[in-house]
Amino acid sequence: MKKFWVGLVVGVLLLPVLFVAYALSGLMPAAASDHPMPFEAWLAGAGLFARIRREAPKRDVSGFTTADLVTGADVYQKNCAACHGLPNQPAPAIAKGMFPPPPQLFTKDGEVTDDPAGVIYWMVNNGIRLTGMPGFHASLLDQQMWQVTALVNRADKLPPEALDALKPAPPVILITAGAANPASSQPQTTR
Ligand code: HEC
Repeated sequence: MKKFWVGLVVGVLLLPVLFVAYALSGLMPAAASDHPMPFEAWLAGAGLFARIRREAPKRDVSGFTTADLVTGADVYQKNCAACHGLPNQPAPAIAKGMFPPPPQLFTKDGEVTDDPAGVIYWMVNNGIRLTGMPGFHASLLDQQMWQVTALVNRADKLPPEALDALKPAPPVILITAGAANPASSQPQTTR
């Protein structure tokens, strides 16, 4: 019996010791470009979804109007597009360098149109720890978070007004003073 207890204590202590040794060995994935550890994605995902299932509010956003979706698109442009991309555009540079990568919410692979709105809202409100996904509770109004939620939840069937508001900003054309006002580039006559 004594052997059993010694074995149990050593076994229980050994695991965390080995894990810490692994962490300090410099071999543990730490860079955004590293491959995930075994079970990392599963563990992170399972923990996250258990928490969200407990807390996500239930709300039907199918009644949100086109005006709501256009406001949601404006919120998205300013707060989300840099990571989650825009319809019919290549993934932004930031998205290519993050781990986990931000899903491109206007592509077939990345859209969240099958998720309950409350789950999306929970993520927008709280963020997702250690992934780069920020929580917006301190910077957006509750209504804005629901509007952007409704927008990405309906990414595959948006009205043209909302799609218009999701176009990339036109490139800024710098007009030099001389070109804007040709007269000013003329040599000044001396008085
Ligand atoms: C700095 C980059 C960044 C910004 C800005 C950002 N996100 Fe995210 N988001 C992420 C990352 C990274 C993930 C992936 C997290 C994961 O894999 O667990 C994510 C995940 C999500 C998910 C879950 C997707 C899924 O497949 O379940 C939703 C929904 C989402 N973001 C919506 C938004 C919205 C809406 C905004 C703007 C209000 C926003 N995000 C802003 C990086 C970002």
